[in-house]
Parts: sequence; structure tokens; C-alpha cells
Amino acid sequence: MAILVAPSILSADFRNLEKEIKKVEAAGADWIHVDVMDGHFVPNITMGPQIVAAARKCTKLPLDVHLMIENPDRYIPDFARAGADIITIQVEASKSLLEDIELIRQNGCRPGVVVNPGTPIEKVFPVLDKIDLVLVMSVNPGFEKQKFIPEVLKKIRALQSLVVSRKSSVDIEIDGGINLDTAPLAKQAGANILIAGSAIFYADNPQEIIKKLKS
Ligand code: DX5
Ligand code: ZN
Repeated sequence: MAILVAPSILSADFRNLEKEIKKVEAAGADWIHVDVMDGHFVPNITMGPQIVAAARKCTKLPLDVHLMIENPDRYIPDFARAGADIITIQVEASKSLLEDIELIRQNGCRPGVVVNPGTPIEKVFPVLDKIDLVLVMSVNPGFEKQKFIPEVLKKIRALQSLVVSRKSSVDIEIDGGINLDTAPLAKQAGANILIAGSAIFYADNPQEIIKKLKS
């Protein structure tokens, strides 16, 4: 399975969002990862549908919108309307995972579910045949530049073996502390979509970084 790289614009220079998105697109990014935080589910407030709509005008790349918010069902239609292609919701925040997954599809987006480092990967198994991807967090969500939590690798391995045994086409995404040192571990464990914020946006040569993340 090809490795995809999704730069997280949480690490972008928001004074020049369009320039930053075009920079990583030119550097070989496959998706653009948009970190939405509400200050309740995580101790940080970042961006909403308006930023997705602005990003939509800057790129044709798929927008991978990561909802780190309470009651994601309330906002799925807004993010879909704003131009999201993929919407991922946290299993810890969803009151009805199956309904929320269905709502994402009804709004024309590809659904994914996210598990925090402390959440057992088994939580996603019952909905595996209803989703397009699983996002395994390798940091506790809320901020960029955090330290990779290696314990999550065994969750990816467990997920990967279930995906293989069920002949599922679900993608496995990883997010948090991904860089040239941790990416090989993540890929080896079975992740095929790598989200990286600081490793890409603060790099002198993002093209080189993205190329190495994919290799
Ligand atoms: C954390 C976000 C991540 C983060 C990645 O809550 O979901 O996407 O921005 O940033 P780095 O790559 O710097 O850990
Ligand atoms: Zn994220």
C-alpha cells in the first residue's frame, strides 16, 4: 500500500495560510490535515469550518479534517459544506459512533474514527466495516511538537492484523510526533498515512522530508 503524507496545518504560519498550503502541496503532500479543537475535548482551541473553506480555495488536495471536539455530530454538516473530503471523529467524544459515521457519509465525506493513546484499539473493531480509515493518535491530542508515544505501535499492529484477516481496505493513519525517526516505526507497524505538522512546516526543505517520510 502506498504511503501518503498529510501535513497538519496546525503547524502552518497562519499569517500566510495560502502560501503555506501551496508550499507543502508543491513539496509532495498527498492530503492536507486540518486539526479542529474546541477547548473542551482537548485543552486548546484552533480552527473551524471557515478555515476549511479557506483551505478549500487554496488546494485541490483532499482535506482530512480531524474533529477533536465534543458532540461532533453537531458540526459534521458544517465541515462537509466547507469542503472537507475526509472527516475523522474521536471515539471518546462520539455519543453514537455508527450514527456519526453514517452522518459523515450522508454529507458526502469519507468517515474515519480516531483513538487516543489510552483508548484500546478494540473500540474501533465493531465499526471497521463502516469506515474508510482509522486514525491512531501517537500523542495525546491538543498540540503540535509533542513526543511520540511508542506504546501505540502495538495498537497499530493489532489493527493491521485484523485489517488483513478481514481483507479490509481500511487505511491506517497515525498522528503526533511523526518525523524521520518515528515514521519508519509507524510504517513497519502498519500505518500507511502519516500526519506530520512540525516535522514538515518547520523544515528548511519540506520536499526532502516528505520524500523521506514516504520512502
Ligand atoms: C495533535 C494533532 C496533530 C498535531 C501533529 O492534537 O492532532 O495533528 O498537529 O503535530 P506534530 O506533527 O508536530 O506532532
Ligand atoms: Zn490531527
